[in-house]
This record gives sequence, C-alpha cells and structure tokens, in this order.
Amino acid sequence: MTVILRTVADLRALVRGWKAEGHLVGVVPTMGALHDGHLSLARRAKAECGRVITTIFVNPKQFNNPDDLKKYPRTEDADAALLRWVGVEAIFAPDPAEVYPAGFVTNVSVGGVSQPLEGASRPGHFDGVATVVAKLFGMTQADRAYFGQKDWQQLQVVQRLVADLNLAVTVVGCETVRDPDGLAMSSRNVRLSAAARQKAPALYAAMLAAARDFRAGVAVDQAMSRATATLLAEGFDSVEYIDLRDAETLGPMTDPTRPLRMLAAAWLDGVRLIDNIAV
Ligand code: PAJ
Repeated sequence: MTVILRTVADLRALVRGWKAEGHLVGVVPTMGALHDGHLSLARRAKAECGRVITTIFVNPKQFNNPDDLKKYPRTEDADAALLRWVGVEAIFAPDPAEVYPAGFVTNVSVGGVSQPLEGASRPGHFDGVATVVAKLFGMTQADRAYFGQKDWQQLQVVQRLVADLNLAVTVVGCETVRDPDGLAMSSRNVRLSAAARQKAPALYAAMLAAARDFRAGVAVDQAMSRATATLLAEGFDSVEYIDLRDAETLGPMTDPTRPLRMLAAAWLDGVRLIDNIAV
C-alpha cells in the first residue's frame, strides 16, 4: 500500500510509527515527472530500507527562471502509479504553502562546491536545493537519502551540507540511468524534437571521447575544445561548459591522486542538457 501525504504533521506521525517499530527509513527526493532514473533510486532505497518515502515537490526556490518553473511537467497520477508498482510505502507531495509557510525566511547556502559550473550558470539554484533538501531531511527524519549521480554537483552539495551541519542521514549516490543510445534520462528530454532526440546522445559520446583523449595524454584544454567542436558540428546550439574537475570539490584538478569528474552543460533544440562521467 502506498499512501499519499500532503502535510508535515501526517508525515511525521507516519514516520514516528515506523521508527517505533524499528524500521530504517529511506527517502528519495524528486520533483516528479518520474522516469527510470528516479525509479532506480526508489528501487535501491527499497532494497536497503524497511520503509521508503518518495517526495514529489517542484521546489520554486531552485528555479531561477519563472518560465522554467511554470513549464516543469507535473504528472502526479502517473508518478503515483509507478511508485506503487515499485512498492514505496509513502509519497509526500506537499503544496508550496506547506513547505514555505508565511514567515519563512531561512536560506541554506553551501559555499565552495555550489559556486562553479551549475552554480555560475544558475545563480541561487543550489541555495534553493540546499534549503529544500535540509527541510526534507528535517520533515522526513530519514536515515538514508538517495540521490542520482546524474546531478553530480547537486550530490556533492548535499554531501557537504550533511557533513557541515552534522545531519543524521546517510547520503547514497546512485549511478546515472541512460537510454540505450547513451542519453542520460531526464524529465527535460521530452521537450526535444524527434530530430534533436536523435542528436542528443552526442553529448555523452563526446564526453567519453574527451576522456579517452585525456587518458591518452591530450591536454585537458585541447580535449575539451575538441568535444565542444564536435557538439557544435553535430548541431548543438551551444556548449555552456565542459570541464574536468576535482570530483568532490569541483574546483580545478590540482592533485592527480584525487578522483576526477568531467561535467558538461549544452543546449540542443532550446533544451539545456547536463551530463557527467568519471574519468
Ligand atoms: P529531480 O530532477 O526530480 O531528480 C530527483 C533525483 O533523481 C535526483 O537525485 C536526480 O539526480 C535523480 N535522477 C534524475 N535523473 C536521473 C538518471 N538519469 N539516473 C539516475 N538518477 C537520476 O534533483 C532534483 O529533482 C531536485 O533538485 C531535488 C533534489 C528533488 C530537490 O528539489
């Protein structure tokens, strides 16, 4: 049985009961419009936790473009059917006024890792993410929280938030789920025209090629500009960034013994695609 909850009070009462019974509680925070990427997190949570909550909340604070917020797909009935099928015990889908009631003035801002890449392209975005994630942890009291590596920088921001504020939750980062042609699944992919959808896997392919170049000794700048040139030639509108960074701090790669991550954002057919890979 999957219950749908709208209020923090109901959620708290449910979780209190579960904890009294000794269950480990997992949470999968989402903004809905669920696809197999989201469901992979829910399945992992189900495998590791006695009780699982999926949250569905299109968080206004993390959208820096009001039009993007308005256009964000909302498909709660279909989402609920998918989550029932995966077997999550509860869906928490509050209204904005439940999450941000009158008088709300707190902002959670994670420094450092929030600044470059997505942070530079989307001012205020990670403050919105950190604020809502901190609240979701407080509201759900979850023991474990599942996030996708698809949003690698977000995952690092959340890890930092949890470490810095000593939050009693274990963050689990889950592999990016891709379509068979390599395109990372995203709620935004449905906005691509059929022709653009055919071109979209070029992003992942260009990143893999750049990683191979780098490993073969090509200088980072050269490998990145080759990837950019390939994407423009394939019909992408622009490449916002593609870079190789320290996987955890997302600062410049200084120490060769530390893990690296390649991250990219590019526009295709008016849709902003992001992706990242281990290098
Ligand atoms: P949303 O974009 O709905 O994504 C919810 C979770 O699903 C995130 O952790 C994201 O990384 C993960 N995810 C998305 N696509 C994936 C894929 N192809 N493979 C694996 N995981 C994938 O990210 C957010 O919502 C919000 O910022 C949120 C954390 C809910 C805060 O509002």
